[in-house]
Amino acid sequence: DYPGTLYEAIGGSATIHHLVEAFYARVAEHPDLYPIFPDDLTETARKQKQFLSQFLGGPAYYTEEHGHPMLRARHLPFEITPSRKDAWLACMSDALEEAEVEEPFRSAIFERLTHTAQHMMNTPEDRK
Ligand code: HEM
Repeated sequence: DYPGTLYEAIGGSATIHHLVEAFYARVAEHPDLYPIFPDDLTETARKQKQFLSQFLGGPAYYTEEHGHPMLRARHLPFEITPSRKDAWLACMSDALEEAEVEEPFRSAIFERLTHTAQHMMNTPEDRK
């Protein structure tokens, strides 16, 4: 186990599974987001579970399978505008609630994701 990590505090892999499923269910329905995602989100969700596991201090499944995340570079093929960043974070905020991630962990995770999401923007709004 992973004592003292957010991963363990929120309930480990079961909670990450619930969170990621709740998140992509929202992405699939969001008018600003679904056009840039694949129709089948199975593989995307699998990778996101691997990533969030290590992001929160748990097992490094993402790096084991895919190498260094290089998240900004991996997002460059997609036009990530400020409104898409806000949409992504809104889906994640709702998913954290649905997965019953408790405070203070919910806010701590959301703050870290907000920081990372800001780093992912690569396109100004008017080019959307
Ligand atoms: C992949 C969009 C933020 C983690 C992707 C993909 C898209 C996308 C379109 C490709 C899906 C696929 O082809 O399977 C966005 C948008 C964001 C955002 C619009 C808004 C800011 C983030 C953040 C994180 C993240 C904040 C991490 C906390 C990932 C991961 C992948 C991914 C791990 C899979 C990369 C791979 O193919 O190995 N994202 N993303 N994304 N995203 Fe994001």
